[in-house]
Amino acid sequence: MDVLRPEPIEANGVATMYHTALAKDEFVEWSKSYDKSILQLLLFGPSHRAVIKRLRSQFGDRPFRVLDVGCGTGVFAERMRTALPHAEVWGVDLVSAMLDKGRPRYAAHEGRIIPIQGDSERLPFATASFDAVTCCNSFHHYPHQDRAVAEMRRVLVSGGKLMLIDGYRDMPWGWLIYDVCVAGVEGAVHHCSAKRFRDLLAGAGFIEHAQRRHPGFAPFIFNEASAPAMVPLPHIGVANDAAQRGRVTAESAARQRN
Ligand SMILES: C[S@@+](CC[C@H](N)C(=O)[O-])C[C@H]1O[C@@H](n2cnc3c(N)ncnc32)[C@H](O)[C@@H]1O
Repeated sequence: MDVLRPEPIEANGVATMYHTALAKDEFVEWSKSYDKSILQLLLFGPSHRAVIKRLRSQFGDRPFRVLDVGCGTGVFAERMRTALPHAEVWGVDLVSAMLDKGRPRYAAHEGRIIPIQGDSERLPFATASFDAVTCCNSFHHYPHQDRAVAEMRRVLVSGGKLMLIDGYRDMPWGWLIYDVCVAGVEGAVHHCSAKRFRDLLAGAGFIEHAQRRHPGFAPFIFNEASAPAMVPLPHIGVANDAAQRGRVTAESAARQRN
C-alpha cells in the first residue's frame, strides 16, 4: 500500500481527505520558522492563555500531570510550566523536527517537560496516565479525529479534563480563514464545526462538555470536557448485569473479553 497517498476517510459521517504524511511534510519545513510565525501572536498565544487560565482554575496549586497533544516546538508546554509550576508537562508530536526545535526549551525545565514523538491517534501512553489533556491548534490535522478523541479519553484518569482548541469556522470570517485560506495552504485539513466537536466528544464518552467561542482576527473554539468516572459498556455478548448497572469500567470489561 502506498502510505503517502491521501485516502478519503469516513469518520462519524464526515469524509476527510488528509494523511499524516502531509502534516509531516508541512511541519518539517515549518519547524525552521515556526516560533517566529505571525500566528504566534494572532492565534497560538491567545489560545494558550485561554487554556492556562482554565487549568489554573481547575487545578490551582495542586500538582498535576498534563499531556499536550500536537505540542510542536513546546512553546505552550513552556508557558504551562512557567504559569503553573506544579504541572508536570508531557508533550507528544508526530514530527521529530518540531520536537527537535524545542529541545533547548525542554532542557531548561529539567525533566518537568517530557517530549515524546508519536501520533495523536495512537498515543504512546498507558490508560489513565494524565489528569489533563490539552490540544491546541493541531486537531484539524488528524485524519481520524474520532480515534484521536478516543485516545485522549483513554489516557485521562477518571474525572480528568480535556481542553481542546482549534480554529472556529462556523461564521463567515472563520470559514474564510480556515476552510478556504488555511485549507488552501495546508491541504484537506478539517476544522470541526461546534456540532461536530459535540458529537465527537459525546461519542468518546466525555461528559460536562462546554464550548466557548473566542472571536478575533483568528477566532477559535475552546472545548472543555471531563472523562467520566465510569463509562457504559458497549453492547457485547459478555455484558452482564453488573456491567449494565455501570459497576464495571470499560477497561475491566475489555479484560473480561480477552
Ligand atoms: C500548528 S502546530 C500547533 C503546535 C502547538 N500545539 C501550539 O499551539 O503552538 C500543529 C502541530 O500538530 C502536529 N501534528 C500534526 N498531526 C499530528 C498527529 N497526527 N499527531 C500528533 N501531532 C500532530 C504538527 O507536527 C505540529 O507540531
